[in-house]
Amino acid sequence: MQGLEVRGLSKRFGGLVVSENIDFDLKPGDRKALIGPNGAGKSTFANLVTGILAPSGGTIRFDGQDIGGMGEAHRVKLGIAKTFQITTLFPEMTVRENLRLPILEREGRGFRMFRRASGDAAVEDEIGTLMAQFDLGPLADRPVRDLAYGQQRLVEMALTLALKPRVLILDEPAAGVPSSETHLITDAIARLPEDLAVLVIEHDMDLVFKVARSIVVLVQGRILTEGTPSEIAGNAQVRELYLGGGHD
Ligand SMILES: Nc1ncnc2c1ncn2[C@@H]1O[C@H](COP(=O)(O)OP(=O)(O)O)[C@@H](O)[C@H]1O
Ligand SMILES: [Mg+2]
Repeated sequence: MQGLEVRGLSKRFGGLVVSENIDFDLKPGDRKALIGPNGAGKSTFANLVTGILAPSGGTIRFDGQDIGGMGEAHRVKLGIAKTFQITTLFPEMTVRENLRLPILEREGRGFRMFRRASGDAAVEDEIGTLMAQFDLGPLADRPVRDLAYGQQRLVEMALTLALKPRVLILDEPAAGVPSSETHLITDAIARLPEDLAVLVIEHDMDLVFKVARSIVVLVQGRILTEGTPSEIAGNAQVRELYLGGGHD
């Protein structure tokens, strides 16, 4: 199968079971959301898929290849990426300079080539395309610290896309973003390359219902149910457990 195929995945922290027998598929072009209460194990799941954490059991395949034992850097090279966190941005550097780094990293040129590469037309073109995709063009030469928080989160997404992933995991892309700016995040997700496999972990239900075509509900490390947005919105158990009956 093309994409991610997770079977029977489990993770324990000592006696605490945080992921229990999780089956999960993510194919090219998918737009899935993973929702669930705080502490349900959503970030842990993302960390198992990206290789930040080692599973206690189960298998993770990508394009049919078992990647469960691979380190994070290896999985990034295969095309599995989770968004950078703002803490990994360089706040004093401009948007353009920040975007240059993952491109050079991907090309294996590293930080030493930084100055010389600033004259590289192919790299600058790629930066321009990324900035246009996220409406960051007008902010290209501004230090990241001057940007609105929502815009900084767009820079994170652009940085991650510079790695040319095939699977993109967004762990709470709208967390901390003022509600007046969440549309920036929603629009950016809606405009991601069509063939990318996208998993969004998010608490903002407006965002989830706008971008997801399929929603997986995780409760205490287990998948409670998976369905279309309308199926999930109409699921009495989900409403009671998570949506508080408030979403229509
Ligand atoms: N490194 C860790 N060691 C021990 N417990 C952890 C660790 N990481 C997460 N947990 C616990 O695992 C559970 C799930 O956490 P997490 O995956 O962050 O949930 P979510 O992202 O759904 O809020 C929580 O009870 C959390 O305290
Ligand atoms: Mg989390």
